[in-house]
Amino acid sequence: MTATAIIEPAPDLIDRLIDREQQRFAELHPKSAAAWAEGRQHFLYGGPSHWMRRWAGGFPVYVAKARGAHVTDIDGHGYVDFALGDTGGMCGHGVEAVTEAAARQLANGATMMLPTEDSLWVGAELSRRFGLPYWTLTTSATDANRGAIRIARMITGRNKVLVFSGCYHGGVEEAHVEIRDGKVGLRNMIHANGVDHAAVSKVVEFNDVAALEAALADEDVACVLAEPLMTNFGMVPVADGFHDALRALTRKTGTLLIIDETHTISCGPGGYTALHGLEPDIFVCGKAIAGGIPAGVFGVSEEVSQRLRKHVPDVNPRQRQSAHLGIGGTLAGNALTVAAMRAALGAVLTPENYARMIGNAERLAEGVRAVIAENALPWHVTQIGARAEIMFMPRPPKNGAEVIAARRGDLETLLHAFYMNEGILVTPFHTMFLMCPATEAADVDRHTGVLRRFVAMLKREGAA
Ligand SMILES: Cc1ncc(COP(=O)(O)O)c(C=O)c1O
Repeated sequence: MTATAIIEPAPDLIDRLIDREQQRFAELHPKSAAAWAEGRQHFLYGGPSHWMRRWAGGFPVYVAKARGAHVTDIDGHGYVDFALGDTGGMCGHGVEAVTEAAARQLANGATMMLPTEDSLWVGAELSRRFGLPYWTLTTSATDANRGAIRIARMITGRNKVLVFSGCYHGGVEEAHVEIRDGKVGLRNMIHANGVDHAAVSKVVEFNDVAALEAALADEDVACVLAEPLMTNFGMVPVADGFHDALRALTRKTGTLLIIDETHTISCGPGGYTALHGLEPDIFVCGKAIAGGIPAGVFGVSEEVSQRLRKHVPDVNPRQRQSAHLGIGGTLAGNALTVAAMRAALGAVLTPENYARMIGNAERLAEGVRAVIAENALPWHVTQIGARAEIMFMPRPPKNGAEVIAARRGDLETLLHAFYMNEGILVTPFHTMFLMCPATEAADVDRHTGVLRRFVAMLKREGAA
């Protein structure tokens, strides 16, 4: 069947359907609704993190229990969790190896500003897996990116950071920029805060070698900060040859290359970098790397380490105070995190578990493709490693501009609210699915059934 354009529904039809789904959500979740109302009295944006207000039902469900790939809320509803804490839960919830290691270490001291022997195993494993020789732990991927940028600025003496439009790298000021309607500005939904982004940032479209070359030509960029493929604006796959060009151009212009694998660690045990032989100067990861206990890591190449040591030498025993790297994190590398990271890397993020996760992601994508084909919808699904994404456009986008042009925020909200009412959790920011080792084929098939019912509902209502 050839894809036909989705019928343009009456202007307010999708809005009315959203109202109806949100109404159903409110009726199904009286306890979560009451908890949210109470939370709003004490939290700035209702929940302990402002991100928690973004769920499509109108308020988040409050979790009673999360185990493996499943979540139960305080109203007693069960969900298949494909959001997995937006990747932080990719090891699965309550996974035994991490729980045991964390409990053991918690009883023996969570944070002492002293290393434990577990850290020796972790350091060696990070080098083995991701290929870079020297590592630093942080409390989040945001912190790891900030640290990496600081180091890049120190050793290049340059100020600017180049990112790709549509990127997200955490609370990193330099990355809060995008190209919209051909103009560079603040990333959608980010509010001005007095920072002169033009002075610290450059932004180009992903996969655009000519634009990258032009932006690096002035040799004023300290580093390119990039995901190896984009995962935060829908999934934007990488074009053939782009990584070779990115590496060649950064080397030619003396720009450091930071590869942020916080999400793409879902590609395989060594992330996209190990799978495709990338050669970053600095490698960043976080979220799932300690099984959900807050953690980030960055690794640096031999060359970066040598250049850095010229600025920040090893400690002189008589002048200890001068050895400050300018990167925060009292709790970074604490014993609890390190124990959890050892368990996550050693027992959960294993080749065998990746094979399972990737198999289920393929199964999910096949199910979605079948629903799309049955209904001749102009949508597509991209699956890379253990991650998949549905987008309301016929082909994968090449860059952020194509995502912006095709985005259907209303349809996305409707789908996400429907999902929640039918027992499916996906990340609230776009329609992304992540597998954990505990995800079963039956969980995946449940999603296919829900999506099929969603499309049937759209057709019934004259919206497709
Ligand atoms: C690619 C990437 N890097 C960094 C981050 C920041 O992670 P955190 O919020 O855990 O610091 C994110 C968060 O979504 C991300 O997607």
